[in-house]
Amino acid sequence: MDTVLVTGGTGHLGREVVELLRPLHRVRVLSRSPVAEQADRSADGPEGEPVEWARGDLATGEGVAEAVDGVSAVVHAATFSPAARRGYLRPSDLRSSPPEVDVEGTRALLAACAGSGVDHFAYVSIVGVDRPRGPYLRLKAEAEGLVRDSGVPWSVLRATQFHWLLDRMLGRMTRLPVLPLPIRVPVQPADAADFAEQVARQVAAGPGGMCRDFGGPEVLPLGAIVDQWQRVRGHRTRVLPLPTPSALARVGHAMTCPDGRRGTTTWSRWLASNPPE
Ligand SMILES: NC(=O)c1ccc[n+]([C@@H]2O[C@H](COP(=O)([O-])OP(=O)(O)OC[C@H]3O[C@@H](n4cnc5c(N)ncnc54)[C@H](OP(=O)(O)O)[C@@H]3O)[C@@H](O)[C@H]2O)c1
Repeated sequence: MDTVLVTGGTGHLGREVVELLRPLHRVRVLSRSPVAEQADRSADGPEGEPVEWARGDLATGEGVAEAVDGVSAVVHAATFSPAARRGYLRPSDLRSSPPEVDVEGTRALLAACAGSGVDHFAYVSIVGVDRPRGPYLRLKAEAEGLVRDSGVPWSVLRATQFHWLLDRMLGRMTRLPVLPLPIRVPVQPADAADFAEQVARQVAAGPGGMCRDFGGPEVLPLGAIVDQWQRVRGHRTRVLPLPTPSALARVGHAMTCPDGRRGTTTWSRWLASNPPE
């Protein structure tokens, strides 16, 4: 059995990828804090080997070379977005985003792969990172460039926004008494579990270069996203509809992929089956 390293294997996407890979591969997860996770997941599951844990930190490079040792493929799904962590944007997020994990960590991981037997580096990215974009998306685009230029056979798999992130952000935003929103901005939320299937298929297929964009089954105006969320989560925050500036509409369109591959889980179905975090 070959070994596949999953960075970000404790995250929303990565843990779904790990479960899909386990019946077919030995799976190693790079994490800053594997011990707590180990308690939950070291036991044999219904199928597959137990997960191997590699303690490491992409921001410092600690443990990265060891994590790659003996690995044939890497799924690089680790990321660090302060805005995603806290669930809302601060003005500083529009000026800069820390590059240590997404750029420097990707560079260190690729350097370790280049000197080893890794024959597929699958990088997880975001639809639209090469079009109008903010600081975090620029880091993702830079990381894509590092992957393409690395000499390691690669795939880049881009997806639209995950349900969990929208859910977290709306949970924070609806604490305001009134929610001013450009309600017509298009959004195409995707289920991380649906996308994980696509990532696992690409691991099986091998290096595919720039893969077809992946999005959720529906492109919805932001107003409908919020309406559905409020209905399921039982909120009644008043929405103040704002006009949508053309620049913002362009960003919204750039971050959807109506002609891409589509997941099947709709926003309303995901909300109904996932409690708030
Ligand atoms: N969220 C979205 O809406 C969305 C949409 C499209 C694409 N994507 C992309 O999909 C991928 C996964 O996103 P996600 O939403 O699943 O992320 P997530 O749930 O926020 O998970 C982030 C992961 O990154 C790891 N990580 C963070 N800092 C690290 C460090 N210094 N060293 C090592 N690992 C570190 C964390 O592991 P530990 O804490 O265990 O170390 C965690 O497993 C990312 O590439 C993201 O850009 C996300």
